[in-house]
Amino acid sequence: FEVHWDAEAAEKGGYEHFMIKEIYEQPKAIRETMTGRLAKDDSAVLFEELKWTPEDVAAIRKIVIVACGTAYHAGIVGKYFFEQLARMPVEVDIASEFRYRSPLIDDSTLAIVISQSGETSDTLAALKEAKRLGARTLAVTNVVSSSIAREADQVIYTWAGPEIAVASTKAYTTQLISMCLLAVYIASLRGTMPAERVKELIRGLKELPSQAHELLEDVEPIKTFAQKYGFNEDVFFIGRSLDYAVALEGALKLKEISYIHAEAYAAGELKHGTLALIIEGVPVIALATQRDVYEKTLSNIKEVKARDAVVIGLAMKGDEQLQKYVDHTIYIPATDKYLTPILTVIPLQLLAYYAAVTRGCDVDKPRNLAKSVTVE
Ligand code: G6P
Repeated sequence: FEVHWDAEAAEKGGYEHFMIKEIYEQPKAIRETMTGRLAKDDSAVLFEELKWTPEDVAAIRKIVIVACGTAYHAGIVGKYFFEQLARMPVEVDIASEFRYRSPLIDDSTLAIVISQSGETSDTLAALKEAKRLGARTLAVTNVVSSSIAREADQVIYTWAGPEIAVASTKAYTTQLISMCLLAVYIASLRGTMPAERVKELIRGLKELPSQAHELLEDVEPIKTFAQKYGFNEDVFFIGRSLDYAVALEGALKLKEISYIHAEAYAAGELKHGTLALIIEGVPVIALATQRDVYEKTLSNIKEVKARDAVVIGLAMKGDEQLQKYVDHTIYIPATDKYLTPILTVIPLQLLAYYAAVTRGCDVDKPRNLAKSVTVE
């Protein structure tokens, strides 16, 4: 009698792939990112590791966010947070572009680099360049004592736990939480957010782990869509504002692991080119969670429907309207408008996962890709 111990199977804890395990770890990961960083009475975000004063923050004239891949997409969401909550000018750039474009940076710039692994070579080089130009640097990373963590002046850890699958999932959601916490922290120090609004947003943050859990409880419809549309060669994602930022990540997930050609478009940009590609039967994933641009998004959805696209709409619970204009609807739990990305990305991750499974792809180790790119 012999016992064979399969270490990898054990690490997967009963899941078929690391990616799906990590998708399911998100409620916990989100909670961990917030642990110790919220005041008991919901009145403030606390960052023991930063200890910034109003004077420190007043010295920052511009924020520059630099990253690669999924982390770059988290940076795009971050831009909305910093601009809208903290009223700070923000630039977001891809690390491999930033480092070669002679960026306008000085000691009044806060450079934020985002990196799950903390080892991506372009991101590290961009960080060094920002430092050389005199910027204050802050790393948002998941790996303690990684090269990027050591190089930056200060660090915020995302505490997502180890991420093994090449396609990033829980690292992304915890990067979004970190961006939101930091935006509220800076906003409070700058006085750009009323105390009541801070409370409201913090209460919304605290709901997220259970809301993410709720989303993960009923994945059957998403599995069905993936099986039904998983053999299409093109898929489009559309949305406006924060929905557009999440659409970019949804399209990347699908490309990375299912090898389906996927493109995310700002819904208002469709008519400037992409609409020519919308023909009968092409799946379009339409994100419509942002109330302030809702009617505009709806009119873009009608445009693609008029060309006989198959539309899967993503709406917030309570939205009765969207389902009338789309073929299928996926609902996310009702949340603050700024917190929607953390929930809307989950069905998109699942869609990519089940599409990859349907197509028989190597989910955890997609062809040609690496978890951490330490060469240029
Ligand atoms: C690779 C991974 C992506 C990741 C990117 C940036 O391309 O496959 O999933 O988003 O690197 O990695 P980082 O560790 O810097 O976040």
